[in-house]
Amino acid sequence: MSQSSLSATATLEAGRQARAGQRGLWSSRWVFFLAATGSAVGLGNIWKFPYITGENGGGAFVLMYLGCILLIGIPLLMAEVMIGRRGRHNPAGSMAALAREAGASRHWRTLGWVAGLTGFLILSFYSVIAGWALAYVPALFGGQFTGITPQASEARFGAMLAEPGMLVLYGTLILTATLAIVGLGVRRGLEQSLRFMMPGLFVLLLGLVAYSAVSGGFLRAVEFLFVPDFSKLTATSVLVALGHAFFTLSLASGAMMTYGSYLPEGTSIARTALMVAVADTTVALLAGLAIFPLVFGNGLEPGSGPGLLFVTLPIAFGQMPLGMLVGGLFFVMLVIAALTSTISLLEPAIAWLTERYRTTRIKATLGCGAVLWVLSLGSVFSFNLWSEHTLFGRTFFDLLDKLTTNWLMPLGGLGIVLFVGWALNERLVREAMAMRSPVMFRVWWWLIRLVTPLCIVAVFLNLVGLL
Ligand code: PFF
Repeated sequence: MSQSSLSATATLEAGRQARAGQRGLWSSRWVFFLAATGSAVGLGNIWKFPYITGENGGGAFVLMYLGCILLIGIPLLMAEVMIGRRGRHNPAGSMAALAREAGASRHWRTLGWVAGLTGFLILSFYSVIAGWALAYVPALFGGQFTGITPQASEARFGAMLAEPGMLVLYGTLILTATLAIVGLGVRRGLEQSLRFMMPGLFVLLLGLVAYSAVSGGFLRAVEFLFVPDFSKLTATSVLVALGHAFFTLSLASGAMMTYGSYLPEGTSIARTALMVAVADTTVALLAGLAIFPLVFGNGLEPGSGPGLLFVTLPIAFGQMPLGMLVGGLFFVMLVIAALTSTISLLEPAIAWLTERYRTTRIKATLGCGAVLWVLSLGSVFSFNLWSEHTLFGRTFFDLLDKLTTNWLMPLGGLGIVLFVGWALNERLVREAMAMRSPVMFRVWWWLIRLVTPLCIVAVFLNLVGLL
């Protein structure tokens, strides 16, 4: 290396260390693991995975989803954390920093903006659904579901959706909690509660699976989830599986890059990312195993859509001993799991505003909050006042959901893997990943360079009928 490039490298390194010092880091690898798992595990696993599995015919869809997690999700998760840790900025800033280091175009940072925007849009509807979960907490503790029939449970859910005022109220509570946690930086308390909540949610889910296992419908559920029937798979369901792999691992939406930017040096990115993905996938499968026996056991429709969780679980809680208490606790935990995701959805935008425009954290949070609240109204009204107003046959909520999950995330993710695999150079990436095993690095490197982008492209080609 020449003298000048040596000193340029030294300057970059010094800048990185200074930024790491200023920005604050996770106190340990364990805390990062909890925060990243908190981001990944949420409504996506417990609410969305079961209902889209139901809508897309079960086993074959689940297999596609698992394939996408393995070949695309996990390699990309590692790449995003690496970008954040090396760049030590908000997503756009980190991508710009890495591009500079590799002598690539600065325009790659546009992908960082797109990711941040994707997260922001997701948050606007995610907070509304988290509001549904919050609304179920007092209803369960208050015993409203005791002995409820499947029909009554469906009717109760429908009645909740018909009341925009309540939905706005609960969605606003979720947004306010998110803004408060992110704006005031009071994450420490949350980190502490995560230590209990994550295992708690896990244990409750296991209990629910055990309950479902003996309540009839279990075998049909296992068959539905794990025996693939490829005749039910359409090109669109493959895209949905791909999109959901991104959604559930919080990819291409700025969250993991931003969390990676607070990760101390010396932590194994690969091992931690793998642990996050395993935890996330396990929770999704458990949620499926808890919900589908109830669906089949009670003669409900697997493809009934976003209400699936909210209709089925209360039936079980209404029947089991101490069900109201267990059910209330379950929804409390679901709300907390959702909050640990919402804060990660907001953080990239706040990091960008404070770093790029030097606004204070509080001002940035209030500004984002106002825009998010207005956007969230669109999602609330999609279930009542505006349910008849559609574009391309979709409500506002549906459009935002499909736009972010099926389009912005996979295409943004494609951009990110191309950036890492082709715009950066191998030496830089190897150094930034700091993997202990050279063989594992090779495997990951070729997944990122070839397998991951080709798989994403294949899904889109398949969609337009070219494959
Ligand atoms: N992974 C979260 C879930 O499954 O609920 C949702 C999510 C969080 C998506 C953060 C994107 C994100 F950046």
